Amino acid sequence: MSLIPDLNGNAKVLVCGASRGIGLALCATLLARDDVDRVWAVARHARGTEALAALVAAHGERIVLVDCDARDEVAIAALAIEVGRACAHLHLVVCTLGILHLDGAKAEKSLAQLDLAGLQATFATNAFAPILLLKHLLPLLRKGPATFAALSARVGSIGDNRLGGWYSYRASKAALNQLLHTASIELKRLNPAATVLALHPGTTDTELSRPFQGNVPEGKLFEPAFVAQCVIGLVGRFGPGDSGGFWGWDGQKIEW
Ligand SMILES: NC(=O)c1ccc[n+]([C@@H]2O[C@H](COP(=O)([O-])OP(=O)(O)OC[C@H]3O[C@@H](n4cnc5c(N)ncnc54)[C@H](OP(=O)(O)O)[C@@H]3O)[C@@H](O)[C@H]2O)c1
Repeated sequence: MSLIPDLNGNAKVLVCGASRGIGLALCATLLARDDVDRVWAVARHARGTEALAALVAAHGERIVLVDCDARDEVAIAALAIEVGRACAHLHLVVCTLGILHLDGAKAEKSLAQLDLAGLQATFATNAFAPILLLKHLLPLLRKGPATFAALSARVGSIGDNRLGGWYSYRASKAALNQLLHTASIELKRLNPAATVLALHPGTTDTELSRPFQGNVPEGKLFEPAFVAQCVIGLVGRFGPGDSGGFWGWDGQKIEW
C-alpha cells in the first residue's frame, strides 16, 4: 500500500513530537520503508535526543532533526521556512505532540483542581500547536497528494464522555478536533488532493500514559511500534473523501 493514497514513492514526511513515544516509533517505522525519501523529526530538543541520534546514525541524511517548541508560533514559522528550503512539497505531516500531566498540564479529577495555567498549557500544546503547524506548513501541502494527521484522543469525544475528569486534556482534544475539521473544509478548496485527519492511537505505553496505566485492561496497552504501524495504515487508507474525520487506531469512526 502506498504511504498516502495516490503517491508513488519518494515521500517527504514531517513528524512533530518525534523525540519519544509514538512519534519516535513513527520515525523509525517510516525510515524502514523504501517509499519514504526523507523524514523531518521535530521536537523541542530533537538534536539532543539519543534515540533520534541513533536513527541519524542508521539512516544518514534521510532523517533531519529540528529543534522547535511548537507552542511558539515564531519557531513554527522558522521551521516551515527551513523545511521549505529543502523541499517544495510535504506528502505527510503527522503531529504527535501532546501533553497530559507534564509541562504545566494537569490530569484534573475535579473542578477544584482546574486552574487557568493548566488549561492554557494544555491547550497551547494539544490544540494550538497542531493547527498553527498546519497554518505555517500549508504552502508545502498545496501541490498534489498531502495528508496532515494529528493524534487526538478518544477522551476528546463529547458523545463518548461518560467518566468525566481530565478537563483540560479532554477539552483541548475536542478543540483540536474542531480546528482540524474546520481546516479540512478550507483545504478541500485549496487542494482537492489534501486530507486532514484526527486519529486516536489507543492507549499506548509512553511517558504520557505512564501514571495512568494501572486502570488499563490487560491486552489494551499498546506498544508504540504497533501504534506507529496502525497510524501508517490509516494515512494510507484514508484519502480526501475521508478528510475532516475522527478515526480510531482500528479504522473505526469515533463520534464527536
Ligand atoms: N499514549 C497514549 O496512551 C495516548 C492515548 C491517546 C492519545 N495520545 C496522543 O498521542 C500523541 C503522542 O503521545 P505519546 O504518548 O507518544 O506522548 P509522549 O511519549 O509524551 O511524547 C510526546 C512528544 O511530544 C513532544 N512535544 C511535547 N511538547 C512539545 C512542544 N511544545 N513542541 C514540540 N514537541 C513537543 C515531546 O518531545 P519533547 O518533550 O522532546 O519536546 C515528545 O516527543 C499525543 O498527542 C497524545 O495526546 C496518546
